[in-house]
Amino acid sequence: MTLYGVGLGPGEADLVTVRGKRVLEEADVVYSPGRLSRSVALEHVPESKIGDLDFPMTRDEEKLRTAWKEAAAEVAPRAREGDVAFVTLGDPNVYSTFGHLRRTLRAFHPDVDLEIVPGVSAMTAFATALDVEVEAGAGLALREAADGASPTGPDRMILFKVTDAPATHEGLVEAGYEVRFGRRLFMEQGETVVTDDPSEVEERDYYTLAYAEKEALEIESATAVFERAAGDGGDSSGSSESSDAETVDAENGPLADGGKLLDVERAEGCEGGDCGGYYRD
Ligand SMILES: C[S@@+](CC[C@H](N)C(=O)[O-])C[C@H]1O[C@@H](n2cnc3c(N)ncnc32)[C@H](O)[C@@H]1O
Repeated sequence: MTLYGVGLGPGEADLVTVRGKRVLEEADVVYSPGRLSRSVALEHVPESKIGDLDFPMTRDEEKLRTAWKEAAAEVAPRAREGDVAFVTLGDPNVYSTFGHLRRTLRAFHPDVDLEIVPGVSAMTAFATALDVEVEAGAGLALREAADGASPTGPDRMILFKVTDAPATHEGLVEAGYEVRFGRRLFMEQGETVVTDDPSEVEERDYYTLAYAEKEALEIESATAVFERAAGDGGDSSGSSESSDAETVDAENGPLADGGKLLDVERAEGCEGGDCGGYYRD
């Protein structure tokens, strides 16, 4: 039988893939590393199916190794007897806690069969949320921006773990980038924000990414002429939308508690040792 690493997508329950939903429904137990992923999983399975794993909120590597060994020891026998799932937001192979579990199982329980069900990652969901097309000829890099970092280099980058948006913005603008931020994209919990104004996302929230594009980057695709023609004819359907600051109220979920976002950040990102730059103990 099998342990499935299931990507839940960015947060909206109906962005779980059809395969992911089927695997969750058929699994005997569904383990989750944090409150947010648990709340999405609960949209698909009853609470009685959710398994308990204890992840400490620490960056102490020894404590983390102990916790992952314990987690693997809990999961392995269940996965030998039947099918179990371990869920993560986004995709299990993109900056995810599932990697810790996979490595620990490989080391201590190599007989356990593993299968990954990919999820819609923030790495691709951002493109729809921020209305960005990564067209033929364009490059795109994914990096991290914890603690105000502003790594530069490629023409286009996605930066995860934005903890100090103004500092990240400043560094990137100095390096010749235009920057937009996306917060809680396609999530039912909390407020979705898409903006080019770093002050709007100044308050730290774990579920924030930045998209940086070199100024004056122009890529001429074969079909770009259609857009220009539509623009000349006054047809706005082909023109790109304004990138002005835009704030959308998302449906308030159980975790939309404003002042407690740091707790959510810890619960979801730091449990399991995936808090890189977020939580100092
Ligand atoms: C540890 S990574 C996890 C990535 C996840 N496995 C994925 O594939 O999307 C967490 C970072 O992803 C970004 N992120 C994840 N979900 C997001 C969302 N719904 N909206 C905006 N950013 C998100 C944030 O930058 C956050 O700090």
